[in-house]
Amino acid sequence: MSNKQKTYVRFELARRIEHIVMLLSFGALGITGIPQRYADSQISAFIVNLFGGIEMTREIHHVAAVIMMFGTMYHILIFGYKLFVKRQSMGMLPSFQDAKDAFQALKYNFGLTKERPQMGRYTFEEKVEYWAFVWGTILMGATGFMMWNPIATSKILPGELIPAAKAAHGLEAILAVLAIIIWHMYSVHVKMFNKSMFTGKMTEEEMLHEHPLELADIKAGLTERSADPKVLKKRQRIYFPIAGVLTIAMLSGIYGFINTEETAVTIVPERPEQLVSSYDPQTPTPQPTLAPTATPDAAAAPSELTWDAYVGPLFQTKCLMCHGELGGLSLASYEDTMAGGQSGEIVSAGDSANSLLITIQLPGDHLGQLSEEELNFVKEWVDAGAPQ
Ligand code: HEC
Repeated sequence: MSNKQKTYVRFELARRIEHIVMLLSFGALGITGIPQRYADSQISAFIVNLFGGIEMTREIHHVAAVIMMFGTMYHILIFGYKLFVKRQSMGMLPSFQDAKDAFQALKYNFGLTKERPQMGRYTFEEKVEYWAFVWGTILMGATGFMMWNPIATSKILPGELIPAAKAAHGLEAILAVLAIIIWHMYSVHVKMFNKSMFTGKMTEEEMLHEHPLELADIKAGLTERSADPKVLKKRQRIYFPIAGVLTIAMLSGIYGFINTEETAVTIVPERPEQLVSSYDPQTPTPQPTLAPTATPDAAAAPSELTWDAYVGPLFQTKCLMCHGELGGLSLASYEDTMAGGQSGEIVSAGDSANSLLITIQLPGDHLGQLSEEELNFVKEWVDAGAPQ
């Protein structure tokens, strides 16, 4: 074991930076997104307040999403470079061997075999995770776009898809966060403390344990040799313009994502207090206010206790807004008043105790109420035979 400390490069610096960018944007998306999905919970309220309110939380969520879009764009361009310029094999493509490895791992975990599957550069677990991430990013991007740009979306697709997108976005978020916490963090950083994504390196022992086939290839000198620099140059001359066009297309895609519409990005400013109140207790309908007409001086004794001299003008100011031309009882004229209303005659001349005109005013709570003095004068008028 003389070369036990020998290390192998597993991830170049660019890969590691990419991982950190994804880690941070994913983390930011999760921590600002999940509280929006469970908005009713107290923990959510706490987290949202921590970020400075819902608007700020959404802002961070959107910024993190854009960072992830850039990360994805970068990944696609690098992928194209490796595929078309370096002509590297696509190590992440799933193969039949992966299914066999998975089955072998299952048997090993159940204690049915003593041999762990022997795997190469990417284990089947790593491939599953990678493709789950690819799928998750596509789904979150598509549903995120639909929520960010609902009007543009509903011009092309049925509007029902927007709430559906919201549900899918939230559910996939839970799935992704749980997968990262339970599967990724556990199997990569807890089960065995694999730091290669941060250090870039793996020891021979770790390689032997996790990627024995790759180690064997390296030892046998079977690692992919880079092509002749001249050939590389030629391929680059073709790839770079294509990549340039692709970059412009993707950048305008991101621009459109953010700027197509403002619907979902703006929060309507808070309305003034009294408009926001959802509960307005019922208040009694204010009684009709009277036009500033000369009110008969009630305290002063009327010159003559007749309809024309006192009762008529009094009713005009105190009763006619309800008992005028609206129908029902009319107190507009002497004749109308003597004719009565629904209950028949309201004035029994000479007998105020049996005149509804007086009795209805006695409890003091009629919608149009006479003062005590006024009522006494009207009462006197009835008892005097209700002279016109
Ligand atoms: C704000 C509206 C309003 C005003 C002002 C008003 N009333 Fe009435 N009055 C009503 C309503 C409504 C009724 C029917 C329901 C009831 O009987 O309480 C009514 C009923 C009456 C009746 C019984 C009619 C019937 O046929 O049953 C009398 C009598 C009467 N009012 C007298 C008066 C007098 C006298 C005044 C003026 C001092 C007056 N009211 C002012 C609303 C009003």
